[in-house]
Amino acid sequence: MSTRPALPADRRPVTIPDLFEMRRAGRPIVMVTAYDYPSARAAEAADVDMVLVGDSGAMTVLGYPSTVAVTVDEMLVLTKAARRGVEHALFVADLPFGSYEVSDEQAVATAVRFVKEGGADAVKLERGDASSVSRARAIVGAGVPVVGHVGLTPQSATSLGGYRAQGRTVDSALRIARGAVELQEAGCFCIVFEAVPNALTVELMTQMTVPIIGIGAGPATDGQVLVFHDLLGIREGTGAKFVRRYADLLDAMADGVARYAQEVRAGAFPTADHGYRIDQAELDRFRSLQDTMDSRVELVRPS
Ligand code: KIV
Repeated sequence: MSTRPALPADRRPVTIPDLFEMRRAGRPIVMVTAYDYPSARAAEAADVDMVLVGDSGAMTVLGYPSTVAVTVDEMLVLTKAARRGVEHALFVADLPFGSYEVSDEQAVATAVRFVKEGGADAVKLERGDASSVSRARAIVGAGVPVVGHVGLTPQSATSLGGYRAQGRTVDSALRIARGAVELQEAGCFCIVFEAVPNALTVELMTQMTVPIIGIGAGPATDGQVLVFHDLLGIREGTGAKFVRRYADLLDAMADGVARYAQEVRAGAFPTADHGYRIDQAELDRFRSLQDTMDSRVELVRPS
C-alpha cells in the first residue's frame, strides 16, 4: 500500500521561518539526502521538508571509501542534478572537507559557489570547534544561511576514532554542547546532531533555540535526517545502528539486471514487440537500392 502523501496544488517552497514554526508547533521536520535528479524527485514526491546534498554522496554514489576525498566540483555536479528535481523542500548543500577549513574567506567563497552554481538555499558545515564556528559566522555574514553539524562529524572521523557515537564521556558531551550553542550563536538556523546518546540530546535540546535535526540522536530532536541510500537499502551491508531500512532496492536492482542478462543470453529478450516496424514496400525498395550500391562498391573495390 502506498503511503505517498496527496500533495496540495497550492504547495509552496519551505522557508526557514516555516522550520521555526514547525519546531514551535512540535511538527517533526523531515530531511533526507539526495544526490541526483531521481533521488530528488523521490524526496519531492514524498513531500519532505528539507533535502540535503550530503557529502555522504562521496560514498553512496561516487564510491569513495570516506567523505574526505570528494571535491567541490564533484559536489557541485551532484548539487545541480538534485536541484533540478527539488521544487518545494528547503535545499541544503554540504561543504566538502577542505573547502572551508583554510580561512573565513575560503569558506565564504565556497558557500557562494554552492548558492550561485548549485542553486543551494543553504549550506552545511561540520564540527563545532572555534574555526568552524568562525566559518559559520562568516558565511552567515555573507548572506548565506548555514546548517551546523555536531556529534559524529564524518569529515573528522579519523580524529574521532572512527564512525562511532560521540558524547558518551563528559569531555565529549561538553564539546558537543559548546559547539552546538556556539554554532547557534554564530547564526546557524539549524543544527544536525549525529550519533549522540538520546539522553544527551534531551539535555542539549533545553539550550537550543533553532531547529535541531537528528540522525542517531534519538526522538527528542525537532526533526530527523537519513541518508537516501541507507533508508532504501541501496547499499551493501547493514549500515549504522540508527538506520531504519524502508526498502531493499539494491537487491531489487540486482535482481532486475540479472533477469535482463539471463533473458538476453537465452534469446528471450528482445522479442519482435520491442522493435520498430518498416513498411514492406520501403524494405523492398531499400533492398533493391542496396543491391545497386553493392554492385557499385564491387566496381571500385581494389582487386
Ligand atoms: O553527508 C550527509 O549525508 C550528512 C547527513 C548524515 C546529515 O551529513
